[in-house]
Amino acid sequence: MNLEPITLLGIETSCDETAAAVVRADSSGGKILSNVVFSQIEEHAAFGGVVPELAARAHVSRLDQIISKALAEAQMDFNQLTAIAATTGPGLIGSLIVGTMTGRTIAQATDKPFIPINHLEGHALTARLTHGLPFPFLLLLVSGGHTQIILVEGVGKYTRWASTIDDALGEAFDKTAKLLGLPYPGGPSVEAAAKTGDPHRFSLPRPLRGEDRLDFSFSGLKSALRKTATELETLTDRDVADLCASFQHAVTQTLDERVGRALAQFRKTHDIAEPALVVAGGVAANLAIRNTLTELCQTHNFKFVAPPMNLCTDNAAMIAWAGAERIIAGLQNEHDGEPRPRWPLDADAAPLFGAGKKGAKA
Ligand code: KG4
Ligand code: ZN
Repeated sequence: MNLEPITLLGIETSCDETAAAVVRADSSGGKILSNVVFSQIEEHAAFGGVVPELAARAHVSRLDQIISKALAEAQMDFNQLTAIAATTGPGLIGSLIVGTMTGRTIAQATDKPFIPINHLEGHALTARLTHGLPFPFLLLLVSGGHTQIILVEGVGKYTRWASTIDDALGEAFDKTAKLLGLPYPGGPSVEAAAKTGDPHRFSLPRPLRGEDRLDFSFSGLKSALRKTATELETLTDRDVADLCASFQHAVTQTLDERVGRALAQFRKTHDIAEPALVVAGGVAANLAIRNTLTELCQTHNFKFVAPPMNLCTDNAAMIAWAGAERIIAGLQNEHDGEPRPRWPLDADAAPLFGAGKKGAKA
């Protein structure tokens, strides 16, 4: 199919990033014309985590300027857009309302279509924007709000193969950092401390290891770490480094086992010469995790696809692109434009005990 180029404004405000982007697409692929992200990390750092009320207020104070900047960088005005796409879920409700209402209002005022986008769909389709990746492929989404393995077979065709039954992986990193007195966000602090630590000094559990299911669990690991740290009483820098290294080692081993099973399952069910594993979410910045996944893919003869970090973490280019994919697939009217704090990508997946309890996003 040959499609005239379409140009979308994307808006993302589901958690603590205020973002807008302009993406042009046709049936052969997409191009990012601008991608503006304002991270609210400083606003939340003092609280050791995202404060929903503060996040919503910060979106209100900045979103209009971020949208203007995205349009200016793309050298576009509203009238040149084909459609407006915004994240309408899942995420923090106050934050979602800001982006949803802004997007709907721009669409109404300019008489353009509004395309509601599931934030997770944005992550799921990013590798098609950056690498032109064909369907189907496996996605490992590891962020502050989600830990999932998803089979991506087409636009709107997602099957959740695994999820966490308690904490998300990024959340486990953040809680570990908080417990050890390291700064927020915890992932980079734990990774940095782990560099000089001994990964074998403390033996931490690998929950669900060896079980047939593909799901994850990280709260037992967190509790074991708390118990070990408490037993040490005063923590030296060496203790902290060793605890971080041992934690990270337990995490990489868990991912190795779980994702390894998923790759084997994909192989059994799909006859594809070079299948791909895509990684997305903030935790994908972790080098030890990246190395583990790279080796795992080599062993299973999978292509390892990691979009550039700024497109792995929350951004609006992925939302604009998901909107473009929906237009191209004729699925732009599939969802209503109501903000939804909970919105599983795979509506048929059975809810897991405790999963997504934060109501937050990826
Ligand atoms: O996708 P993301 O930017 O946004 C949300 O989930 O909102 O992911 C943020 C998460 C945080 O939990 C952060 O601690 C984690 O990703 N993270 C990391 C690293 N960098 C960020 N986790 C482990 N290692 C890192 N280097
Ligand atoms: Zn996300």
